[in-house]
Amino acid sequence: MRYIHSMATAVAATALSALTPCSSAQGASFAYPQNRATIAAGSNLTVRIDRPTPSAPTVEAAIALGMSSCETSETGHEHYSCPSPETSFEYLFYAGGFNPQRPNIVTSGEDFNAFQNFTIEIPESLKGRAILGFLHSSFGREASGYFPFFESVNITVNIVTTV
Ligand SMILES: *[C@@H]1O[C@H](CO)[C@@H](O)[C@H](O)[C@H]1NC(C)=O
Ligand SMILES: *[C@@H]1O[C@H](CO)[C@@H](O)[C@H](O)[C@H]1NC(C)=O
Ligand SMILES: *[C@@H]1O[C@H](CO)[C@@H](O)[C@H](O)[C@H]1NC(C)=O
Repeated sequence: MRYIHSMATAVAATALSALTPCSSAQGASFAYPQNRATIAAGSNLTVRIDRPTPSAPTVEAAIALGMSSCETSETGHEHYSCPSPETSFEYLFYAGGFNPQRPNIVTSGEDFNAFQNFTIEIPESLKGRAILGFLHSSFGREASGYFPFFESVNITVNIVTTV
């Protein structure tokens, strides 16, 4: 009996892991700034992270938002090597709970995605190409339990000195 039960659990787990690419397609993303944006060193920037409605009920866990400078790789021009958010952040702007809220579109005129804004101060010393990234975790709630979802998301930005 116990054997059959664990078999059923294993089958259910396999079926769920087969769905993982689906749920990862519904992860969070940067709404602002956009990939390749130019931003000013030393400025305060509002980063908007969108969380489109997941297909299954989701319990949000945490998010960490940070930035690292990229290095020009040996191969030269327009080739950059950036640290992955999974490895390190040179600057950590926020680490804590993630609580994306759906805007009231009638009054705000924003789109339907739930989102959370984070105001960050771009370090004065950062120049050139940098990676802005976050690590995000949540749990999808299924009939058989809670299933963790992890993702690492990044964009690259160009940091310029203000005159
Ligand atoms: C950015 O925000 C911080 C904290 O609110 C403030 O002290 C600082 O003066 C702001 N910097 C700029 C360039 O507005
Ligand atoms: C969130 O940030 C975006 C991008 O800066 C801004 O357009 C929007 O007004 C902000 N929304 C709220 C509710 O703070
Ligand atoms: C940044 O995200 C892209 C996918 O948008 C991925 O291919 C790339 O490996 C990521 N870069 C780093 C340094 O994590």
